[in-house]
Amino acid sequence: MDIVNPALNAYLLAHATPADDVLRDLAAETAAALPDHLSMQITQDEGTLLTLLTRLTGTRRALEIGTFTGYSSISIARGLAPGGTLLALDVSDEWTSVARRYWERAGVADRIELRLGPAADSLRALPETETFDFAFIDADKVSYPVYYEETLRRLRPGGLIVLDNTLRSGRVVDPEAQDPADRAIREINDTVAADQRVDSVLLSVRDGVTLIRKRTE
Ligand SMILES: C[S@@+](CC[C@H](N)C(=O)[O-])C[C@H]1O[C@@H](n2cnc3c(N)ncnc32)[C@H](O)[C@@H]1O
Repeated sequence: MDIVNPALNAYLLAHATPADDVLRDLAAETAAALPDHLSMQITQDEGTLLTLLTRLTGTRRALEIGTFTGYSSISIARGLAPGGTLLALDVSDEWTSVARRYWERAGVADRIELRLGPAADSLRALPETETFDFAFIDADKVSYPVYYEETLRRLRPGGLIVLDNTLRSGRVVDPEAQDPADRAIREINDTVAADQRVDSVLLSVRDGVTLIRKRTE
């Protein structure tokens, strides 16, 4: 299912701040080296959205779950307040080795710490005192319910969580779509919409992007 009509989609892309050379080269290298996985990469407009949101929230400490070749991490790192840092979690040494090269090129390598391993383990191993202003969740979909809870309890009041792929190409409204990832996304969408700890909106940007602000009271 096209979430947005293709002509409108092209128009939307043409009317967001364009990617710079670093992000354009990263997208091209990912497309050439990992064509079967290219759909995992966020797009130019979503990257711009992440930079804007990071900047608007005055984020000093950010979390990313699901780094792949680095597009979203560069977008977040570019929006950090001076002295801000990003903790990036992923399982793949191979894919994040591409990210590391592009972090250097983008001049953000000193703001990003990568931890390799299952993200649920990395999150649970964080000290209780570790808190975040902003989090982007874009790893294995079946674990979104765990990532949401583990992130929300470490998010400062007023902080923002961004969940990616919350429309699953429209499968959220297809009763025949019942794979474990489809079910997990429906579960997390229902949880977030009913969660009294947060205010949220599910945007029809790309494959569905949910913005979740932790309430301050
Ligand atoms: C959709 S991609 C992330 C795309 C990335 N945000 C970008 O902008 O290009 C999902 C990533 O999650 C990682 N991943 C999958 N299962 C994971 C797990 N259990 N723990 C941590 N990372 C995981 C994969 O290695 C992959 O790099």
